[in-house]
Amino acid sequence: MTLPDMHSAEAIPDTARAEIELLLQSGDLFRYTAAADAPVSLLEAEFAQMMGSRYALAVSSCSAALFLSLLALDLPQNAKVLIPGFTFAAVPSAVIHANYTPVLCEVGENYRIDMADFAAKLPGVDAVIISHMRGHTSDMDAIMQLCDAANVPVIEDAAHSLGTLWHDRKIGTIGKIGCFSFQSYKMVNAGEGGILITDDADLVARAIIMSGAYEHNWKKHPGIADACARWQNKLPLYNLRLNNLSAVLVRAQLAELPRRVADGLRNHDYVAAKLNAAPQIDVPAPLPPETR
Ligand SMILES: Cc1ncc(COP(=O)(O)O)c(C=O)c1O
Repeated sequence: MTLPDMHSAEAIPDTARAEIELLLQSGDLFRYTAAADAPVSLLEAEFAQMMGSRYALAVSSCSAALFLSLLALDLPQNAKVLIPGFTFAAVPSAVIHANYTPVLCEVGENYRIDMADFAAKLPGVDAVIISHMRGHTSDMDAIMQLCDAANVPVIEDAAHSLGTLWHDRKIGTIGKIGCFSFQSYKMVNAGEGGILITDDADLVARAIIMSGAYEHNWKKHPGIADACARWQNKLPLYNLRLNNLSAVLVRAQLAELPRRVADGLRNHDYVAAKLNAAPQIDVPAPLPPETR
């Protein structure tokens, strides 16, 4: 039996070719050169619309999106950030990079947040990051209830969960900010890249400026000028922008997402059923509100 190749990425759709050719000819790779409609700006508009969010900011990685999200929340110095014990190194790293302290929360045997440990550790933290680990979504109802009551902001790390639903709500739109990755192992592959989404104008304005919208480049982000003007010259710039070529690659793949989600779920469920037939292995089922 020949096994399918499970390690290669899918080809980038042909629809990207004409735009890539234009970029090669023009050399216009920097997101802020064109007065309007740069591929990065178009990606932000399309992604926000696809997710039903007010704002999107495309950046160089999901790690950058997490780092900027933490800084944009304007947390106190020495803030503590509650993160799951089952996550990826980028998450505690983003907390350290922002000069805050990660606090680890236990996860259960089903790889999801242990809610008793979460409730015990929530008092005393200033923010929460939840990592949605490839179809192991934690109980977002219980998490949001506790965090809303304690007035603690939630960042959703949906690096590889683009397309997952919770009660028919898109993962990444439940907390205050959602972060996604365009690195090659994720649902959409630009080699590297990331994006954050939020409905909060001041939050995204701060993230836009810190991502590197220096001087008056933030004016090229539509619908957010007042909030950006409030933060002008008050924040450091970390230059974590996405470039136009990456945005072209991402935009060409967004239409593929529903098919990729369906393929991924079918393959997952097929393999999970085979593994679960072995008594030594348990692939946990989704929680009832989750469509992974
Ligand atoms: C759960 C999780 N969060 C964040 C990231 C960081 O994404 P990026 O590589 O785009 O920085 C990853 C990357 O694999 C991840 O798996």
